[in-house]
Amino acid sequence: MKTELKFESLQSLQAELLVVLAADASTSKDKNAAAEPVLLTKDAAVASADKPALQSGEFSATACETLLLHAPPELKAKRLLIVGVGKAAKLSLPEIRKAAGAAVRFAKPRKIRQMTFVLPEHDGLDLAGAARAAVEGAFVGDFDPDTYRSDRKDRSIQQFTVVAPASADKTAVQAAFREGAILGESQNFTRALVNEPGNRLTPTILGERAAAMCKEQGLPCEVHSTEKIKELKMGAFWAVAQGSDEPPALIVMRYGPPADGKAAPKDGPVLALVGKGITFDTGGISIKPSEGMEKMKYDMAGGAAMIGAMRAIAQLKPKVRVIGVVCSAENMPSGKAYKPGDVAIAMSGKAIEVLNTDAEGRMVLADGLHYAQQLGATHLIDAATLTGACVVALGMVNAGVFSNDEATYEHFQKAVEISGERFWRLPLEDEYREMIVSDIGDIKNTGGRYGGAITAAMFLKEFVDETPWLHLDIAGVAWMEEQKPWIAKGPSGVAVRSIVEWVRSYEKE
Ligand code: BES
Ligand code: MN
Ligand code: ZN
Repeated sequence: MKTELKFESLQSLQAELLVVLAADASTSKDKNAAAEPVLLTKDAAVASADKPALQSGEFSATACETLLLHAPPELKAKRLLIVGVGKAAKLSLPEIRKAAGAAVRFAKPRKIRQMTFVLPEHDGLDLAGAARAAVEGAFVGDFDPDTYRSDRKDRSIQQFTVVAPASADKTAVQAAFREGAILGESQNFTRALVNEPGNRLTPTILGERAAAMCKEQGLPCEVHSTEKIKELKMGAFWAVAQGSDEPPALIVMRYGPPADGKAAPKDGPVLALVGKGITFDTGGISIKPSEGMEKMKYDMAGGAAMIGAMRAIAQLKPKVRVIGVVCSAENMPSGKAYKPGDVAIAMSGKAIEVLNTDAEGRMVLADGLHYAQQLGATHLIDAATLTGACVVALGMVNAGVFSNDEATYEHFQKAVEISGERFWRLPLEDEYREMIVSDIGDIKNTGGRYGGAITAAMFLKEFVDETPWLHLDIAGVAWMEEQKPWIAKGPSGVAVRSIVEWVRSYEKE
């Protein structure tokens, strides 16, 4: 999808599809009260073309509601699409992101390949933020997961143009627009990885994809396998990897700001992004029920989010150092597989009693988190489809977030305000540690039935010591079980935007 930003009046604009947003200006709380749809543009030509449709009562401007007009009078555009954003009083950037996605998903099946999105104007709305949200939303809407359909028709949008009012702050809108394109594209890069089935995305192939991305973006990247994992004494990572015929991959990506004199100070923070990259999780010897097991191809979504985030970081060039570490393996039952009762010695030296081989994500992350600190990380963030318990707790709306440090959590909170993604903090109190104390070794890899998302996080905490750390449990939100008007069913690419914003927040310090 090519993107373009214009500052023009709409009357003379040529377009296959011109998209304008409309909000419901009614303030009545009564659900039966009539909606008052108002256009979010001051452009007179568009307003007059839309007037009869808006007055017809057919359109209430609810979120993602659409109304299409052909050959709109007074305009050069072939079609005009009005997209609702809900109540005007509650208008914020997530609605705009969704509306842009919904417009794209409206156009795709209708074989419309070019569209022009009119930036909404509304009191108190940040125009630059809206530009960014619109492009992000358009990329999100443009993704479809039908990669392997033999009669697949590529219906992706070829040209997505955003038009801003001539009075806008051009520099701010341009910068935000560019950021939106980088983030949207990187999110889709992650989604494409997550979408790949286990047979087509082994740890080795994930390593190759990461290396290819790094080469393209000019980032140094190393992909190690069995030998190095054993040499580093990553006993927890290896415990999982040993059960598969597919060799594991330890992916290390680096970003250091360009040496242009304005580079990050040598003593500035080093942020490490650590991802769970289980390309398929059968559960191992503690095998999962066959129903729904196919979904476990997305058990590398945390790792893929880190690779996508590194891609965006390479392009946005924040003045802060970043390391990406992805621990990738297949969790398989076999004659070589680790077993319940086994004791694995992690790279940190801690002895882990394996109670359940299906709790493999925390095993690989234990060594990934320790290694990242050895590489010099001062701050850690990990992302993982870690626990079903997190899905039970938060459903498929919020991802879980945990942190051992208030300042680091505040950085993340601010990042989430910008990204528009949804996270809910869960606790990490010392009392929970008792649930994972082992009789034979230091800790057990499961903490029993209750508080499963928390005991998994407590397990990870054992490997981060005092380093400020964030843990994102994205099990419930990495895969959309149903399509929405603005996004297809399938991989969501969640966490990429928040992680990138979190990284950028350290540049401002
Ligand atoms: N990959 C799963 C978690 C998961 C569940 C991801 C649902 C996405 C959707 C993880 O490796 C796992 O199996 N966790 C176990 C842990 C248990 C054995 C302590 C779980 O949640 O059941
Ligand atoms: Mn598992
Ligand atoms: Zn897993």
